[in-house]
Amino acid sequence: MKFVYKQNWAEQKTIKEQLSFIENIEEFPSLPSVVLPLLSKLNDPYVSVKEIEKLINMDPGLVSYILKLTNSLLFGLLEEVYSMARAIILIGMSNLRSLVTSYSIRVLCNTITHSDIQEYIWNHSLTTAVFSKVISERIYGVKKNASTYVFGLLHDVGKIVLYIHNPQNFQDALIRAIGKNMDFVSSEKQIFGFSHIEAGYLMIEKLRFSKQMKDVVLHHHNPEFSAKGDNNSWIVSLANDLAHNLYDNKAISMDKYLEKFKISDEALVDLIRVGQYQVEQYRSLL
Ligand SMILES: [Fe+2]
Ligand SMILES: [Fe+2]
Repeated sequence: MKFVYKQNWAEQKTIKEQLSFIENIEEFPSLPSVVLPLLSKLNDPYVSVKEIEKLINMDPGLVSYILKLTNSLLFGLLEEVYSMARAIILIGMSNLRSLVTSYSIRVLCNTITHSDIQEYIWNHSLTTAVFSKVISERIYGVKKNASTYVFGLLHDVGKIVLYIHNPQNFQDALIRAIGKNMDFVSSEKQIFGFSHIEAGYLMIEKLRFSKQMKDVVLHHHNPEFSAKGDNNSWIVSLANDLAHNLYDNKAISMDKYLEKFKISDEALVDLIRVGQYQVEQYRSLL
């Protein structure tokens, strides 16, 4: 049976109440203190590069993360960049916002104390991010834009929320999904009563992300239910299924994607080859 998103679940008090810790996310000890002020500054159209640079420099982990990604395949710059001010100018405020967001997810992922689960979620998120980027480049010709990468990186943020909510239950849901070869959403629903989709939506809403990001979180397992013209959900859904097929030994059909994107088997194989190559590069980089 297909999972159908019901409009009214966000109003159901039970899920919101159970995940009430999301309301105090600003006080999360694991969220780097500079991230929220930085994101709010990045929303100000009159903010100066100097102000942004000053905030970024307060977190050495963030400095190294931004410089690594700026100098990586993500933007494909011809020159090596060492100065943060130069990096900010070259990649632009919008891409910078995406990178700061993805950094906070990396740090949040590090708080998962169970190392296998942490590795599983991080590798799956990164793989989906890189494939999302490659799909948007190869199918839609989008270049030097970090937004699709971030959609892919955040699509399963609800899994981190579920883990924080109840680590043991999350582990049980994961074991049940793998052991019984069932889909993860059904397994989570049996154990939690809801899935990472609802949990992720509440988190994305709290962090005031764009509608596009919310749509991706809601529809990445069923893009056919997304609004007409919402290509991001389709891109991330394909990236997600490729990540499961290539790295989790699943066998998910590609037919609906070949039809949606109007691409040949050969083009898909070529896309997979490029994606796998880049996934290896990103894994060794981050
Ligand atoms: Fe998912
Ligand atoms: Fe996923």
